[in-house]
Amino acid sequence: MKQIQFKLNATTDLHSFDTLILPVFDQGQSTQLAKDVNLLDLTQTLFKQGDFLAKPGQTQMLFQPASIACSRLLLVGMGELETLTVKSYLESLNAAAKALDNTGATNVLNTLIECQPANNDQAWAIYQNTLAFQRSVYDYEHESRNKKTPKDPKLTSMSYAAETTAANETAMNQAQASALGMALTQDLANMPSNFCTPTYLAETAEAMAKTYGFEANILEQDEMIKMGMGSFMAVAQGAHTPPKMICLSYQGADASQAPIALVGKGVTFDTGGISLKPGEAMDEMKYDMGGAATVLGVFEALGRIKPKLNVVAVIPATENMPAGNAIKPGDVVKSLSGQTIEILNTDAEGRLILCDALTYAQQTYKPSKIVDMATLTGACIIALGHQMSAVLGNNQPLVDALIASGQKTYDRFWQMPLSDEYDEQLKSNFADMANIGGRAAGTITAAQFLARFTKDVDWAHLDIAGTAWVSGKDKGATGRPVPALVDFLLEQV
Ligand code: BES
Ligand code: MN
Ligand code: ZN
Repeated sequence: MKQIQFKLNATTDLHSFDTLILPVFDQGQSTQLAKDVNLLDLTQTLFKQGDFLAKPGQTQMLFQPASIACSRLLLVGMGELETLTVKSYLESLNAAAKALDNTGATNVLNTLIECQPANNDQAWAIYQNTLAFQRSVYDYEHESRNKKTPKDPKLTSMSYAAETTAANETAMNQAQASALGMALTQDLANMPSNFCTPTYLAETAEAMAKTYGFEANILEQDEMIKMGMGSFMAVAQGAHTPPKMICLSYQGADASQAPIALVGKGVTFDTGGISLKPGEAMDEMKYDMGGAATVLGVFEALGRIKPKLNVVAVIPATENMPAGNAIKPGDVVKSLSGQTIEILNTDAEGRLILCDALTYAQQTYKPSKIVDMATLTGACIIALGHQMSAVLGNNQPLVDALIASGQKTYDRFWQMPLSDEYDEQLKSNFADMANIGGRAAGTITAAQFLARFTKDVDWAHLDIAGTAWVSGKDKGATGRPVPALVDFLLEQV
């Protein structure tokens, strides 16, 4: 993806730019710069005439405006100054990015950072602007798209007239790295499962290891069978494409410092297995590796930011297929932890692969904390919709840190409870536990299942079934929750 050059400490001499992005409030109010270059007459006249009411998300591009030295002026409606909210600010920001699409704007002075919603500072605005504009040039790129030409953005440089403080610089760099991480996450999740196989995910991780100096370790099927990953291997046994356990280590701190482990569900296609899913919208189950793609997207950002901490990625990757040799409802398997599982529904496969990955991560890396992420339950979409990911965990400070990063980046999480009463729903007559807990509280019982494999470590689980992609006419991967996780990790330094 094209990388925009973001700059701080820009001049406000408009001769240096071809485009000025200007926030406009109701009644045609704007910034000090607008006053200085005599633009307030224009914006207030537009308001009085009813041509531009500056509603949040409303934009107007003017070419060759008489009073200023650059050839494009993008007016961005921000609504009422007093009631500027994060939601309306981001709505306006994304509309501004969209308005620059398919224009010739290349070298832009962006003054949207001059205003911020209450309780947010300029560094926050720089973060959100950088994230939004870098993201706006994303387009899914793959040879199979054939004649559908990807976007061809002209935008090459964006400047902010803001001081080069550490906070501003950090915000800008974090945002750009996060946006580039999201692009990788989106590319992998958008890629159809006949291309994006476990092997392809492993090759992607190995290529990243080369680029950024990560250590890569890919476990193969025969090795994992020998190690006793009976649960993960049970899901993989019906698939023709071989499963992989994809591990990456990023070492930014002393080797003696225990790493944070990120574990991501990598089901490259979820048919449901013998408990076959209905046909409608089944194509969307190519996104069932959204957790894995998120972990790799976060590593892309880590490779660019290079923070002083240690992080490992553990990604169990397989297809979930119906087959003559596939697992069947009622089958009992033994997990790497030694606990046995009665598979009552082969469509609850995510937890079956994650439990062995969680055990493996603890045995191999002795992490200080584990965060796993997975498109785990349809129930999560019913509970929280597409706005927030669910977070559950056994350590409240860890959960709180994730929620705080989600709020700051506006890639939000909402906590659901864990409790022994829910755990009882996993009782089995034939094994230590069943892999499903009935219809009630489906997201919670899935997390209770994982909790049985993370008793001795601080752990949080993110259910991203509702947030990792959108359906409908803009169908595609969102790149979430890369921004929140990158922020969470940087807060751990
Ligand atoms: N990958 C699905 C969860 C999912 C469903 C994500 C729809 C996004 C959209 C997961 O493997 C699954 O099938 N879960 C089952 C669990 C059930 C059998 C207990 C579900 O949610 O129906
Ligand atoms: Mn499933
Ligand atoms: Zn699944």
